[in-house]
Amino acid sequence: MRLDYLTIFPDFFAPLELSLPGKAAASGLLDLGVHDLRRWAHDRHRTVDDTPYGGGAGMVMKPEPWGEAFAEVLSAGSDTGERSTIVFTTPSGERFDQRLAEELSTREHLVFACGRYEGIDQRVIDHAREIAEVREISLGDYVLNGGEVAALAVTEAVVRLLPGFMGNAASLVEESHAEGGLLEYPVYTKPRSWEGRDVPDVLLSGDHGAIARWRHAEAVRRTAERRPDLLTPSVLDDGTPIVRAV
Ligand code: ADE
Repeated sequence: MRLDYLTIFPDFFAPLELSLPGKAAASGLLDLGVHDLRRWAHDRHRTVDDTPYGGGAGMVMKPEPWGEAFAEVLSAGSDTGERSTIVFTTPSGERFDQRLAEELSTREHLVFACGRYEGIDQRVIDHAREIAEVREISLGDYVLNGGEVAALAVTEAVVRLLPGFMGNAASLVEESHAEGGLLEYPVYTKPRSWEGRDVPDVLLSGDHGAIARWRHAEAVRRTAERRPDLLTPSVLDDGTPIVRAV
């Protein structure tokens, strides 16, 4: 997979070198490119923003640098013959979740377009749709100062799903928001007793069936308590009601 980042703050992406994506890049699984959008601004001040038509507070990112940046970065990524996916990180996008991370992990080339200020001129997004697949993605219902942190979060969620990337594939299956959609059950390690608190007996019982049932019940309890929106009632063929995650 190839990942490109278009930003006016390339330093935000230094952590890519340290973390999971850095390791994947070192192992040849990932190609990473971080690009300063101002490279495609040609006036003396390398201007990337201007006042909004129609008035209003704040500044809007100008279209021209984005257009040139896409032309250059898309051609660099097209050697696989696949179409690229341009990801605009924006609070007005679709909400990011594990399902979307899984979808993006199937793509050959992601280009993250990180907006700042009041946003990017709408024509940039309309133009991008004509030259690539476009996703507008929000990390959640809150406003960050720009899309860089969101692009990093999306990157980490996507990259760890790439085949051959995680050391332990089983941990991908069991964790929160994986298939089954329940939050993860609580976990414990040694010592058996700490600060007057004991590890639940069932985990020491060696009874794998009982442990699996306890973990499932805890996952359901936690999900019902913290994220009831993830649960939908469902019924087995024999009429037994079960709780199912959406
Ligand atoms: N940029 C600013 N706020 C954002 C958010 N919540 N998600 C993604 N990108 C953003």
